[in-house]
Amino acid sequence: MTGASSGIGLATARRLAREPGTELILVARREERLRELAESLPCPAGWVAVDLTAEDAPARVRAAVQERGDRLHLLVNNAGAAWRGSFAETGYANLRRHMEINFDAVARLTEALLPTLRRSAPSAIVNVASTAGRVSRARSGAYSASKFALIGWSDALHLEEAPHGVHVGVVLPGFVPTEGFPATELREKALTRMMLSSPERVAEAICQAGPGGRAERYVPRAYALAGLSRMLLPGVVRRVLGSGAAGSLTTSTAAEAADSDDGR
Ligand SMILES: NC(=O)c1ccc[n+]([C@@H]2O[C@H](COP(=O)([O-])OP(=O)(O)OC[C@H]3O[C@@H](n4cnc5c(N)ncnc54)[C@H](OP(=O)(O)O)[C@@H]3O)[C@@H](O)[C@H]2O)c1
Repeated sequence: MTGASSGIGLATARRLAREPGTELILVARREERLRELAESLPCPAGWVAVDLTAEDAPARVRAAVQERGDRLHLLVNNAGAAWRGSFAETGYANLRRHMEINFDAVARLTEALLPTLRRSAPSAIVNVASTAGRVSRARSGAYSASKFALIGWSDALHLEEAPHGVHVGVVLPGFVPTEGFPATELREKALTRMMLSSPERVAEAICQAGPGGRAERYVPRAYALAGLSRMLLPGVVRRVLGSGAAGSLTTSTAAEAADSDDGR
């Protein structure tokens, strides 16, 4: 379970821990949080404190799996991050850092663990993408690019791994207030609060997309309409996102909330 130190990953670890026979390996950078979580769970749990973009990260996670019996029934690729800003302001460097954690790190870890997942089949991989992997918004292009890539790659992996007994599911959350994605403006207004979901609901969707065998789950489910509208009514979607109507969707990451807090 990657990204287990906060938000969706933490809620998913707690949800998975309730299943009989579960044993978890928690992965993120903040070791103290992983230790506290592991000690609080009702199932055996270990942790690997690692930056998933580091060269040796996949090997370190694989070693932890090997130490615990070299079997793996579920890999949840959830760790991710976002830094908002237009391409003109943030450039290729911002695209690169999004791809490193939201796409490259997922592909590298999956490559390291795929032989174990095949040997442990039936097994599953869940990749936590985003509705932003279907619909791009201004100042979110780098994040969207990484999530579009993740979904495209996951769709192919789903087809490739099915004959080997490894199910690949994708979860596409909408707005879920968490540390990295505080959704500050959406939480302030009653009308936009309705658009928010919770880490616990995404955790449930991850279970449905993994052991439950679903190929794709939006959270909330109605967000599937956003993806559908982008395909069927691209002009309308562009007009809505380009108008003031989308104003409150523009400050949704921790970095940007911090910017607005100190008045920049
Ligand atoms: N919340 C939303 O509105 C929303 C919507 C759509 C999709 N998502 C996706 O959901 C996933 C989880 O996000 P969240 O909302 O739960 O955010 P979060 O609370 O900020 O959690 C992000 C997790 O990823 C870990 N992480 C980040 N960079 C890492 C790195 N380089 N190496 C290892 N671990 C790293 C963080 O742990 P450390 O800092 O301890 O390393 C943390 O556990 C992400 O993939 C995100 O794109 C979120």
